[in-house]
Formats: sequence, structure tokens, C-alpha cells
Amino acid sequence: MARLTKLSRSLAGRNVLVTGAASGMGRATAFLFADEGARVGVVDRNAEGLEETAAAIRGAGGEVCAQAVDVSHTGAIAPAVATVAEQFGGLDVLVNNAGVSLAAPIGADDFESTWRATFAVNLDAYVHFIRAALPHLRASDAGRIVNVASTEGLGGSAFISPYTASKHGVVGLTRSLAVELGGEGITVNCICPGPIHTGMTQEIPDEAKTKFARRRVPLRRYGDPEEVAQLTVSLALPAASYVTGAALAVDGGMRVKNN
Ligand code: NAI
Repeated sequence: MARLTKLSRSLAGRNVLVTGAASGMGRATAFLFADEGARVGVVDRNAEGLEETAAAIRGAGGEVCAQAVDVSHTGAIAPAVATVAEQFGGLDVLVNNAGVSLAAPIGADDFESTWRATFAVNLDAYVHFIRAALPHLRASDAGRIVNVASTEGLGGSAFISPYTASKHGVVGLTRSLAVELGGEGITVNCICPGPIHTGMTQEIPDEAKTKFARRRVPLRRYGDPEEVAQLTVSLALPAASYVTGAALAVDGGMRVKNN
């Protein structure tokens, strides 16, 4: 009988770049790629956290290229991508994940600076990384872009409009580029996490988290970073070759709950 598939579910030997890998979901994603045998380029502005990530990967026998970079410094992005591609001999997968969530009531004095600071990291940097990675992804036989958006890219909450707008931007960017790059076989998808235990949510008291999750999340808890990373990594598989333009919620069912 003919075999069903020639599509590979292996990431061994693939070259990957993950931004925001010093903490939370970026770190979990980098670990998972490394566990699956990929070479992992990691970028973050938090040099100490990044070195912890890199040391853990090396300690487990993985190959890693760590660069302390502030992704809001546009000029630093192309050299960072070039370094990873040079060290590994190419780049197959880009995971845009570094992000900030800053409170910003629309009438606040610092609203405009907060807006700019948010967009610089959450959307502009995603674009610059994609542009820098594109020649390498084009040379790959299975180029993959996974952008981390948010359920705030699908709906809205009060007092964080820069964050919400930037994440809607990530969803729009993903959809447009999926159409634009589809003819070249490069897939572009985004993940929309719900409430996840990471650095971004660590200031929220446990009691408030529990209350929120009981009321809003069918699975009745916050998610763990690895639960998001698992889907990110799945979208990066060569076998995920017919999924593009998707905005996938990883939110314990929060987006579909009506009552
Ligand atoms: P986190 O705070 O644990 O990790 C974010 C990482 O991005 C940090 O290591 C931080 O240093 C890095 N970063 C921030 N600004 C940077 C810059 N200018 N240059 C370089 N690195 C920078 O938070 P988390 O939750 O793991 O965030 C990852 C992504 O997930 C973000 O895009 C965030 O918006 C998104 N997200 C998080 C949710 C949550 O509940 N935690 C929910 C939905 C989306």
C-alpha cells in the first residue's frame, strides 16, 4: 500500500530564530525547538535571562546562538538575523514573540509615547525581522513565520488600546503576508494566546488570576507557556505545509465562551 505522507514531522537540523526568548513563551518555545533537534537563535533585550535560556539549551546538548538585542532598535535587527543565518548556515523558521503590554488610558499624558513604545516592539519589530529573514526563508524548502499575537488581536479590553491595536496589527500583517508569500511556499500564521503564566502576567495576584479564570476560561485556569509553545512549534513543522493565514487562539476556550 502507498504510504500516506512524505511530509516530515521532524525539526531536527532546522534553523530557527525566536525573539523574546529570555522569559515566558519565548523561552518555552526555544526550549521546545531545541528539544526537537533544531538549532535555535535567541534574541532578547534581557541579557541575563537570555543567557539562562542559552545555558539551559547548551546544557541539554542543543545548539544555540544568543544575542542581547533591543528589538525596538531597528538597526540592530538585520545584523542579528544575519548572525544567526551565518552561524547555522541558513534560517527556516522565524518566531516573532517579543512583546510589551503597557497600560494606557486614552486620556493619559503619556499615551502617545506609550503608543509608540508599544508599536515599536509589538508590530514594527515583527515587520523588520520578517524583512531581514525573508531571503533566508525563501532559500529554505519549508520557510515558516509564526507571529505571536494575542486574544487582544481578536477582541478588545479597556485601557490597553496601544497593545490591542498592535496585536490586531499582527493578525492583519499575518493574513496579508500569508497571501503575499503563499506562492513561494512560505507559510505565515499567528498564535493568539489567552491568559498565560509568564513575566507579563506575574504582577497579577494569584487570587485575581483564579477568579478571572473561573469566570472567563472554560478550562478554568491560566495556561502555561509550554502549552502555547507546543502550537507554535507545530506550525513550524515542515508537515504544517497547508496551514497559512491562520490566527489560532490558545486560550483555554476563552474566545468562544458566551456565558
Ligand atoms: P514575558 O514578559 O515573559 O516575555 C516577553 C519577552 O520579550 C521578555 O523576555 C522581554 O525581555 C522581551 N522583550 C520585551 N521588549 C523587548 C525589546 N524591546 N527587545 C527585546 N526583547 C524584548 O511575556 P510573554 O507573555 O511570554 O510574552 C510573549 C508574547 O506573548 C508577547 O508578544 C505578548 O504580547 C504575548 N502574549 C502574552 C500573553 C500572556 O498572558 N502572558 C497573552 C497574549 C499574548
